[in-house]
Amino acid sequence: MASVLVASNRGPVSYTLGDDGTLSSRRGGGGLVSGLSAVDSQDSLWVCAALGDGDREAVRRGVAEPGVRMLDIDPEVYSDAYNGIANSVLWFLHHHLYDVPREPVFDADFRRRWASYRAYNRAFAETLAAEAAEGAAVLVQDYHLALVPGMLRELRPDLRIGHFTHTPWASPEYLRMLPDDIAEELLWGMLGADELGFHTWGWASSFIGCFQQREDGTGYAQGLWPSGDPWYGVEWRRHDTGKGRTRVQVYALGVDGDDLRALAHRPEVDARLARLREETGGRRTVVRVDRTELSKNILRGLLAYRELLATHPEWHDRVVHLASAYPSRQDLESYRAYTASVVALAEEINAEFGTADWQPVLVSVEDDFTRSLAAYRLADVALVNPVRDGMNLVAKEIPVVSDEGCALVLSTGAGAHAELGADALTVSPYDVSATAEALHRALTMPPEERAARTARLAAAATALPPQRWFLDQLEALRSPSDRP
Ligand code: G6P
Repeated sequence: MASVLVASNRGPVSYTLGDDGTLSSRRGGGGLVSGLSAVDSQDSLWVCAALGDGDREAVRRGVAEPGVRMLDIDPEVYSDAYNGIANSVLWFLHHHLYDVPREPVFDADFRRRWASYRAYNRAFAETLAAEAAEGAAVLVQDYHLALVPGMLRELRPDLRIGHFTHTPWASPEYLRMLPDDIAEELLWGMLGADELGFHTWGWASSFIGCFQQREDGTGYAQGLWPSGDPWYGVEWRRHDTGKGRTRVQVYALGVDGDDLRALAHRPEVDARLARLREETGGRRTVVRVDRTELSKNILRGLLAYRELLATHPEWHDRVVHLASAYPSRQDLESYRAYTASVVALAEEINAEFGTADWQPVLVSVEDDFTRSLAAYRLADVALVNPVRDGMNLVAKEIPVVSDEGCALVLSTGAGAHAELGADALTVSPYDVSATAEALHRALTMPPEERAARTARLAAAATALPPQRWFLDQLEALRSPSDRP
């Protein structure tokens, strides 16, 4: 039995099945891995989904790392839940990505996929209920598992349940696109938690705003608890389970500066950096690193760079845009199409401005962390311009490791803007011309100003490193309950 449990779709380890039938494992990185390492592993359990054939085979063979439990969910149910709901519905709602004249469509097929999402959430809730010690703390992660808190609360009222949302939260108007009963199920799922965490007050307020809008006398959201107390949240009443409160808190995940700098100074990164220097010919660099993700706004970023070259010809042959857009969610057609558009636009820019020895954009579509770290170190300018993004750790990582200090062009859509906005060059994600001008300002920023801003950005970026982020949540979860 574990006294600290984490649940997330993607776990800390993944398995690959070789042609000869051998399984090899790979450990992932990220905030949660580092956060949970602060807790005694004897006492903790991480519940995650088996994501591919390798993971499923590991479950079948009983291969597992201590402290990790992978759930082998029926592949069709899993695909409907992950691709069909989490990434195509909830992700789109929270990031405001729908092309509204045509989407979303909530039809019978959607209902079928939602049933799978519910079953996938139930599988997590049942495993957590079976594995948790009396009064254990359970930290559920993200939009994939929004129904788990409510389900788990019913199975195990003794547990302390937290949920953290790594994405934005949909505005109330956007959330109201969902059929009423589904929105209700989603919100009640979340309210099963004692504590809900978000990266910014903006996303936390969006969540709470959904209750203001839905205050319709049906008894499921009786109002807010905005002031007077050290906590903020939702006070609710239900005819079946009585009334209670769910606290809402903000934990702005940051980076571990020492860890990141050590990673960025390994010999393989030094070697990659030397190659990148050759490829860029010692020119100034504008760096971006993203999953190829619709919300990251990579196309408008490229359009801004094109406008920079068109309006400031003095930069011809003097700057290179290093854009890393590594593949993600390629099971979804819109993501495949987006990746193709990014590559096509980069090629257009190269055809328009490039010369025999200058390629204005170097795009990499490989998931190559070594190259990304090398690019971070080389960055004169970092471009981070999402339309809507829970946090965006790239904006925090680049100032921490850039060798010469870098100017950060940052859109208001990034959660990180709440902390970094004062020392970044702020742009609206939709304003291509303003982004082009910000790139010009960034490239011409005096060195002393750039160094001073970078130092302040790095300090803000490392204010809440992953272990602290995790332990703060755990501590809050263990503090006295507000539940009935
Ligand atoms: C976002 C989500 C994470 C997710 C990541 C990668 O950052 O908040 O929960 O792990 O995207 O997405 P993927 O679908 O590849 O796991």
